[in-house]
This record gives sequence, structure tokens and C-alpha cells, in this order.
Amino acid sequence: MIDIHVKAGQAHKQRDDAVVVPLLDGRKMTESGKSLQQVTDKALPAFLRKFDVSGKFGESKTLYDVQGSLSARIMLVGSGDEKLLTLHKLRMLAAKVARELDAGGARDAAICLPELQVRGATLADKVQAVAEGIWLGLYRFDKYQTKKTENTRRLRSVTLMIGSRRDLEIAQAAVDGAKAVATGTNFARDLANEPGNVCTPEYLGDQAAALSHEKLSVTVMDKQAIEQAGFTALLAVNQGSDKEPRFIVLEYNGGDAGDAPVALVGKGLTFDAGGISIKPAAQMDEMKFDMCGSAAVLGIFRAVVELNLPINLLGVIPSTENLLGGAAYKPGDIITSYKGITIEVLNTDAEGRIILSDALAYAAEKKPAEIIDLATLTGACVIALGAQATGLVATDEKLITALKRSGEHTHDRVWELPMFEEYHEQIKSEIADIKNTGGREAGTITAACFLSRFVDDIPWAHLDIAGTAWDMKGSDIASKGATGSGVRLVVDYLVNRSR
Ligand code: BES
Ligand code: MN
Ligand code: ZN
Repeated sequence: MIDIHVKAGQAHKQRDDAVVVPLLDGRKMTESGKSLQQVTDKALPAFLRKFDVSGKFGESKTLYDVQGSLSARIMLVGSGDEKLLTLHKLRMLAAKVARELDAGGARDAAICLPELQVRGATLADKVQAVAEGIWLGLYRFDKYQTKKTENTRRLRSVTLMIGSRRDLEIAQAAVDGAKAVATGTNFARDLANEPGNVCTPEYLGDQAAALSHEKLSVTVMDKQAIEQAGFTALLAVNQGSDKEPRFIVLEYNGGDAGDAPVALVGKGLTFDAGGISIKPAAQMDEMKFDMCGSAAVLGIFRAVVELNLPINLLGVIPSTENLLGGAAYKPGDIITSYKGITIEVLNTDAEGRIILSDALAYAAEKKPAEIIDLATLTGACVIALGAQATGLVATDEKLITALKRSGEHTHDRVWELPMFEEYHEQIKSEIADIKNTGGREAGTITAACFLSRFVDDIPWAHLDIAGTAWDMKGSDIASKGATGSGVRLVVDYLVNRSR
């Protein structure tokens, strides 16, 4: 990731490849623009008239070699109506700016976006949002394009301009926070974007092990250890694959020895063909992303280590492929899970909840203060909420309120679905304890009902990221592919919780 610095000073005194200043609706300048206007001796307003820029949100115009300016380019960034600005909009603007600077060949730039007023936001919030936008916006997954020269990164360093020296420390801390979150998010994106032939359960285990740190111990169980431990539900799903499963446990000890940890559980399906209940061919390639829950968990751990949060954290990741080998589990099979609950398999494509059942039961045994799981669990969630929000089904009001708040703050949003008692009827089995599908109706909720059987009475939140984990269209802030959803959300939640 590129360098981001903070500096207290005036835009017109910066000598960079580019200086980036906001332009509000009606061509209204903020402080940095005004200071540039003075040194460029009216050249700037003349340009504005000539190029017919209005300042509407998202617009941008780059002027080269403006007389009097020390920087080679002045980039005017349409910021719209200042009263309507949000942290999310600021983050998106910063992402767009960073991409344009890089594409235009600027090597360094001074960015004055933090001077914009955002209602309800502190300077630290704004600086963090801008820094996140830059790092997330510049992310690309292009390691397999061996000959593309336009992939070379030009932008190397950015300076965020703030008004007063007294705020330097606060702003620097905000940049550090953004760096941890962006590093975690981009790490999750990298893991998830890797194709299924590279990102196997073994690879996930290796990547997790590589996160080891004095405060973070990582245990990766291979198939033999999984058999010994008795994670039978995971083994059942793994039967159709020639690749070994993995069961990954992460323990971060940043809090007091006696503090109950927060447990994070992530679905690590490195490829989901559906098993014997095979999926249609169209877009099946996207099922390499079925490990985005586990990628988010690993990204969150990476950020938490970097932030050195004073909490204890337990991570649990069950990982396998779901394929159709001769030994594959079949519709009609009954599995006795690690917890002892028996599962009637009606559809081998509802495999996520099966492997998660062992991971949740294992996590619950450790008596954590709460459990949060992240999983690309149901197509029904994509239908219900699309790409705009992660599905939230939970048993604890405090957890729900805090997650919603973090979702709003980070724009890594959640939307709650109910888990009324009646929904549990849909997964009752005639011949086992529960069945692994509850029919088409309320598919996201009945999947959560299934999971709820394995968490005992521990406060629990289930995050269905099926609709948010990847985006094949791409946006300014997330290139095509994995988005890293869940990382910003849960890191913000953990930061607030540790305050
Ligand atoms: N990984 C899928 C869910 C999914 C589908 C995520 C599409 C993102 C996009 C999951 O394993 C699955 O196949 N779920 C089934 C469950 C059904 C058989 C009850 C589904 O949603 O169709
Ligand atoms: Mn499936
Ligand atoms: Zn799946």
C-alpha cells in the first residue's frame, strides 16, 4: 500500500505532482481552493468558467501547469452540497481521486479533502475515511496479468492536508487506524480473489498460520487432527473432495487473561459446486468466493493485531471444498455432528451451515462472551438485500444495536431479519434432529435457525454476506471481485467494544 502522511499547512505551498482541492456546488471554493486562487492570480476562476465545471458531487477536473501554482496539476473535486456530505461520500470521493491520480501518472499529491465539513463527524473520522478510501480504492488484483504494463502503480505517496498543527497527532492516529482496517480488508480481498485451484483449504491454513504473532497463536488442524477431534459434519462435506479439509483456530490475547473472548467464526468453502445437488453452470466460477467469511475473519485478525486492541479474540474457520467425488455425501444422508445433533441432508448445496455447525459448537465450548459468524450462506439473502447490506440474524439486543451502529459508521451496512419462533418449524426433521434446508421461504432466516442450534445460550450474531462479499461490477472503492465486506464492520465494532 502507498504511503499516506498528514501535514498541517496550506495547499498553495505544496510542491507535489498534484494538489487536490474540493469544489462545492455553485463553484464554491473551500479554504484550500481560495489559497490557490490567490497565488494563481485569477487564473483559476478563469479556468473554471472555461471548463464549465459546477462542483456537483463526483465531478472532477484536472488543470495542468496553472501559472503561479507550485504543483504541476490542480485537481478540482466536485463535492456537491456540503450539507449533504457523509463519511461514506468522503470515502468514495477519496477513492475516486486516488484512482484518477494514479491513472493520470501523478507520483505524489497533496489532498485537501479533510477540510470539508461533514455533519456529526470529527476530524479523526474524516481523515480515517479519506485514508481508507485511498487505500481501498487503489486495490487491484492483477497478479495473474503477466504482460499488462498499465498495471504498474505510479502513485507512491499522498499527503493529507489539515488546518492546524494541534490536530496532527489525532490525524496521524486516524491514518494509523485506517491503515490497519485497509490492510485487513485488502488482505481479505486478496485471499478471496485467489482462484479455487490456488486458494485451497491447505492454502487458507497456511495464510492463517502466517499471521502468527506474539499475541496471536494459530493452530491449523489437518484431516487426521480433524478426525481425532471429531468434526464429523465438516468431514461429511469434505467427502466429495480430493483435497484435505482444514480446521483453523486463532487465539489473540490482547486483553486480560481472565477476559472471555469474542469468538469470530468464518465459512471457508474454497469452492462450492453444490455437491451431488450440483449448481447450474452459469456463474459457478463465483463460488470460489464461498470462503469470503473466512477471509473476513482473517482480515479482522490482521487488523486487530495491527491495532494492538486490548481484547481477547477467538477465531474458528472450517474449510473444505464441496464437490462431487465418488465418496461425496448425498441427499438423504444423516450426519451426527460434533455436538451430537443429527442432521438430515436434503440438499448437499446447503453445506455452509453443516460445516459451520461444528465450528460454532467448538467456539461455544470455549465460553466466549459472544459469537459473531460471517458466511456467504444463502442465495436468498442476495434476493432479499442485494449488494447493499449484509443480512443480520441475532439473539442479543446489545450486539444487534452495536453492529447496526458500526454498519452505519463504516457504511459496511447490516440489515436485521427476524428469527421468530415459528421459523424453527421449517427445519424440523422426521427422522433426525434437524434437516439442512427449510424450503424456499425465508431461506436466510431458516439457515440462521439451523446455526442457532449450535451456539447454546451465548449471545450470537450471524452475518450473511452472500450479497456483499463480492461485486462483479466493481466501484470506485472496490475493484471487480471480492469487497472484503465484514472487515470494516467488525473491526469498528471491536474498537468500540474495547473503549
Ligand atoms: N454458497 C451458497 C450460497 C450463495 C449462493 C452465496 C449464491 C452467494 C451467491 C450456499 O452454500 C448455498 O448453496 N446455499 C443454498 C441453500 C439452499 C440449497 C437451501 C442456496 O442459497 O441456494
Ligand atoms: Mn452451497
Ligand atoms: Zn456455499
